[in-house]
Amino acid sequence: MNQHTAHSRIERLRQQIHDYNRAYYIDDTSIPDESYDLLVEELKSLETTFPLLQTPSSPTTKLIGTPLPAFPTHTHQIPMLSLGNVYSVDELLSWAESAKKILGTEDIEYSCELKFDGLAVSILYEKGELVKGVTRGDGATGDVITPNIRTIESLPFRLPEALSLEVRGEIYYSKVNFEKLNQRRTALDEPSFKNPRNAAAGSIRLLDSSEVRRRHLDIFIYSMVEGPMESGHFQNLEKLKALGFPVSDEIRKYETMAEVVAYCQKWEHEKEQLPYDVDGIVIKINRLHHQKQLGFTAKSPRWAAAFKFTAEQAVTRLLEVEVGVGRTGVLTPVAILEPVELNATLVSRATLHNYDQVARLDLHIGDEVTLEKGGEIIPKVVAVNKDVRSKEAKSIQAPALCPSCGNAVAQNPGEVDWRCPNLQCPAQQLENILHFVSRKAMDIDTIGPALIEQLLSRQLIRDASDLYLLKHGDLSALDRMGDKSADNVLEGIKRSKNCRLSRFIYALGIRNVGEKSAKLIARHFETLENLMQASSEALNQIDEIGPIIAKSVSEYFRNHENQSLIKRFLEVGIALEGEPQTVQTASAIAGKTIVITGTLSESRDIWKARLEAGGAFITSTVSKKTDFLLAGENAGSKLAKAEKLNVSVIDEATVQEWLQSE
Ligand code: IVH
Repeated sequence: MNQHTAHSRIERLRQQIHDYNRAYYIDDTSIPDESYDLLVEELKSLETTFPLLQTPSSPTTKLIGTPLPAFPTHTHQIPMLSLGNVYSVDELLSWAESAKKILGTEDIEYSCELKFDGLAVSILYEKGELVKGVTRGDGATGDVITPNIRTIESLPFRLPEALSLEVRGEIYYSKVNFEKLNQRRTALDEPSFKNPRNAAAGSIRLLDSSEVRRRHLDIFIYSMVEGPMESGHFQNLEKLKALGFPVSDEIRKYETMAEVVAYCQKWEHEKEQLPYDVDGIVIKINRLHHQKQLGFTAKSPRWAAAFKFTAEQAVTRLLEVEVGVGRTGVLTPVAILEPVELNATLVSRATLHNYDQVARLDLHIGDEVTLEKGGEIIPKVVAVNKDVRSKEAKSIQAPALCPSCGNAVAQNPGEVDWRCPNLQCPAQQLENILHFVSRKAMDIDTIGPALIEQLLSRQLIRDASDLYLLKHGDLSALDRMGDKSADNVLEGIKRSKNCRLSRFIYALGIRNVGEKSAKLIARHFETLENLMQASSEALNQIDEIGPIIAKSVSEYFRNHENQSLIKRFLEVGIALEGEPQTVQTASAIAGKTIVITGTLSESRDIWKARLEAGGAFITSTVSKKTDFLLAGENAGSKLAKAEKLNVSVIDEATVQEWLQSE
């Protein structure tokens, strides 16, 4: 092979491996046509034969699928403290009294603001440019999340004046975007976030900024801690607003506590009308010289207080308790209620968590109960009004028999949960098979709950291994299933036969084993045979696998029923592939000098911040000292110069991959 043909073959191999990695680590979907290892081997040997064709961006020189180095940290010049809470008007008034006493005057201004329910960040601008965004962290040191902060559209990148300042604010999810996010996650078979705050917290620390951008986070700026100060906090916020910062329209400045109290009470009643969650009101003594005089306690400023709203409650009647049976057989009591309005939604179900909780509440069927919607979407029963309990009210116990299969339920020593121990229980089987076919497991997207239910009830399958024995005729005879759909189902099943060991381990639904542990285990043991022989101690020796997972995995494979299930999977033709081994080490970006050129999918500022967050230095001219040129479309003279100086040229996808955790 001459250098020219080697070059085109190498390019092709790199592209294939790149696509494969991307599909596997980022989209979490595809199964390779050719064996991944063969591709890598071929590429490696070509690169050894033709060393001139080796580049740092080759997949053979990159650490594939390693978690991103943690976010860089930043020490807050001014610590990010929390606020002291007050829970009633009386407490609020005594906070104001003590401030007046310290200040020795009645002439006090108060700034009133909504208390947004999200997470605090600090944002630094230098000469008018957004240079850094940092999480609160432990208050003293936070994570640098600049690329993610830059995805927030309402936040200015560049100020109209070349000011240097540090502002703080709350990142939050609007109710609408939160709903959309959860709908998207449900469609992708991903767990929903419990509330907008969790969703915001989960999103802001993602490593993939393009995913953060897709999530449409929002922010309200609520203070300036460094910069050209006005005489008061309210005036500072007005100035920030004029500079283009997203400052809430609801801030007010008052001179009496009567007005402050009225503001708190107004929002206590009207908070539901806001398009985002708030959990109280923040009252700040406005004039900065007063703030200075009042100072701080160890944890919070004396010049501010958070008036916390009481969680909204509703009273209704418990009609019955439904028992859900989960994948691992856990029985979950769910309260079925007389429908009642709570936080502007009609509620007819509430979680009771477990039977310990039922006993603690001393809950009876027919009881009048108080519901509360805290931060979570699903309301909770928080109290039972025993005074009005009727004589007929029946106490509630965990059922003796599983509502799905009739087996006797049991409670493991030391566990709160009651479980159905029957592994053949239809409810568990349904959940197990649903898990088996789910996207991150065997990814058979042509099979849904309705089909599984039909197959189970007609006894066409008993467990997931039977899916592989289904015939066209079995399927086409089912409700709402034509020839074409039957073909699709069979095709999906067939496609899943060649699969990564890690996916298969995850698909088995071993208790406590999530996607990540499955990958760690698969990488360590390499084959199913090795894993099945592994002792709990051997499992525990894997980094990040603790004793609970280790025990649960080894017990799973000791169980005879599980062993015969696995035997059946192998008999029907499941072929397991090992995990791709990582090829090389070294953080690709940290400490490297990078030049950016050409048109990229996002602005150059975003790429700059993203690379800097990974520890790179960004310069504007290509020289011998340049490590990489990140080139987008239509790159011109810089690309030519890089090629001349033998500087490695990388593309966006490569950088994303370097920055991507598994
Ligand atoms: S001022 C010294 N204003 O509430 C702290 N905080 O426990 C100054 N928050 O961590 C904070 N809305 O994340 C302030 N309008 C607002 C706020 C607000 C929400 C959060 C903030 C802080 C927490 C206080």
